[in-house]
Amino acid sequence: MSFVKKEVNTTPIEDTVFAIVAKAAQAKKEHGAQAVIDATIGSLYHEEGGLVAFDSVFTPYNAIPKETKAKYAGSFIGNEGYRKQVYEWLMGGISSTLAHDVIATPGGTGAVNITLSQCLDAGECVLLPDIAWGSYALMATMANLNIATYPMFAGDHFDMAGFRSACEAILQTQDKLVVVINDPCHNPTGYSLSKQEWQEIIAILNECGKQAPVVLLNDIAYMDYSYDLDHSRDHFQLFHALSEQVMVVVAFSCSKSLTSYGLRCGAAVVLGQKEEDVRCVRIVFEKAARAMWSNIPNAAMDNFTYVTTENKEAYLWEKAKYIDLLEKRSSIFVKEAKQAGLAIYPYKEGFFITLAMADNELRDRYHKALMDQLIFTVKVNRGIRVAICSLCVKDCHGLALRMKQILDQVR
Ligand SMILES: Cc1ncc(COP(=O)(O)O)c(C=O)c1O
Repeated sequence: MSFVKKEVNTTPIEDTVFAIVAKAAQAKKEHGAQAVIDATIGSLYHEEGGLVAFDSVFTPYNAIPKETKAKYAGSFIGNEGYRKQVYEWLMGGISSTLAHDVIATPGGTGAVNITLSQCLDAGECVLLPDIAWGSYALMATMANLNIATYPMFAGDHFDMAGFRSACEAILQTQDKLVVVINDPCHNPTGYSLSKQEWQEIIAILNECGKQAPVVLLNDIAYMDYSYDLDHSRDHFQLFHALSEQVMVVVAFSCSKSLTSYGLRCGAAVVLGQKEEDVRCVRIVFEKAARAMWSNIPNAAMDNFTYVTTENKEAYLWEKAKYIDLLEKRSSIFVKEAKQAGLAIYPYKEGFFITLAMADNELRDRYHKALMDQLIFTVKVNRGIRVAICSLCVKDCHGLALRMKQILDQVR
């Protein structure tokens, strides 16, 4: 007997992050914080070991009248000013002729979820990267979708041939392609596609579009931490070359951009060649939003608008300090990994670096061996994720060599 619906997987969530975060916290209690390397937490931490909450974000947020915080949002698709400013924030520097609409969502999660659940029917298949944020698979499963993956890498670059074959394979069995590309600053490898790679991807999707409608879900959760911010949005310009058969949903998140993970604010930005197609997606997303979460925190939306307009200078200045810090931490680890001969996936920028593991059996043994030596990381498919976003500079020094020595022992 079951009290939940029949078509649902009742196996508990495999908690690959929070369980290890708890183990690391316990180890710190037992052995002292100095003895433990905690590379588990996926939020931005400062050098003193605490969560970063930008002053430029939370000082104005705290000044918002309680009535504004208490109030419902202006509409189910979000406050007008917020929707306009999200578009401006992402596409501002780009002269776009694509039709567009913006639907406010609870974080990037809401934007990804609404796209997967509303663009595919139960039993259809979504195409995900083989190394990816774990929640994509969970969201797909909860919507009764099947999952196929494309290989992220061939050597030190994106596996374009693998991507093409995976797209083609989906279209052998169904008349819709929904594909997730988490770029720039891919979680968990820190890869960012080059302009040329994006052009090739667009050509492949246009080819696929000749057979069936295609939805490109571009998850940009970490984009505002790109090391080359001025060019972080360049690939949006390339979307102009997409055919009428390809729709884009950009999943934006304030969680990382504003260090406001708990405020649950984000957006799905829908882009397409034809106004009526964008309108159809918007209508369905609006109804789904109304049905699932009703509305997004009013004050969180207003605060995003304020922070990225009137307070923009202070905000960008504060965020830039942490981009520099990420760059410092990652360059130490990447350089030392190279010197030590520790294989990592091609890292360019972002919150995480991932060690490349030949197989998941070795990865499991290695992950355990690292914990035995008080180094806490997170397992991902064929990899070990090192969260440099929360690892202080001091702990980055010498870590790659230690990890290589432990790997040599378990191999
Ligand atoms: C790749 C990726 N996309 C989207 C998100 C969404 O985060 P949120 O729902 O907090 O905006 C995350 C958060 O960890 C992420 O890692």
